[in-house]
Amino acid sequence: MIISLIVAIAKNGVIGKSSGEMSWHVSEEFRHFKNTTKGFPVIMGRKTFETLGKPLKDRLNIVLTKNPDYKTQFEEVLIFSSLEEAIKFCKEKKCEKVFIIGGAEIYKLALPIADEMIISIMKFEAEGDVFFPEFNEADWTKEKLMDKELFEVYLYKRN
Ligand SMILES: NC(=O)c1ccc[n+]([C@@H]2O[C@H](COP(=O)([O-])OP(=O)(O)OC[C@H]3O[C@@H](n4cnc5c(N)ncnc54)[C@H](OP(=O)(O)O)[C@@H]3O)[C@@H](O)[C@H]2O)c1
Repeated sequence: MIISLIVAIAKNGVIGKSSGEMSWHVSEEFRHFKNTTKGFPVIMGRKTFETLGKPLKDRLNIVLTKNPDYKTQFEEVLIFSSLEEAIKFCKEKKCEKVFIIGGAEIYKLALPIADEMIISIMKFEAEGDVFFPEFNEADWTKEKLMDKELFEVYLYKRN
């Protein structure tokens, strides 16, 4: 099973705001995210899930929280208390791929185990106080997948 991390990062490293507000709205980038992740399980932190407000359609939504009493009104959403458990579940389900969709805390947990990263680099700086964690470019081979007006998409494969 491929563990794929997907993120959009502004030129200044920002990925969002801790208030939960989005730092930008670029529908073409969101479309790329939707098309790429459609049909696969997506794993996210509790804060990102609450920012979304509802599960993403056509994907198994898995939410990570350390709170054993955490509940959501959406019955189809699976809750796990660790990334390892969530990954194990997807492996047992024989999923071909799983996407780690953020936020910063969950990206940090997943960086050491991700096989690939699909990174949109936005062509602008954004306001925000949540940043993508640092990683060593030398550990990855980078390939440009797309060049759009407001963003570029790169595939990073672990060496
Ligand atoms: N630009 C992008 O591509 C992108 C993508 C996704 C998100 N974002 C942005 O990222 C921001 C949210 O990121 P964030 O770092 O603040 O929060 P987050 O990673 O979405 O969620 C953090 C929460 O995940 C749970 N968690 C963390 N470590 C865990 C562990 N080891 N085991 C189980 N659960 C764990 C905890 O939930 P509990 O507190 O319930 O225990 C923690 O509060 C938002 O601004 C969002 O818009 C941007």
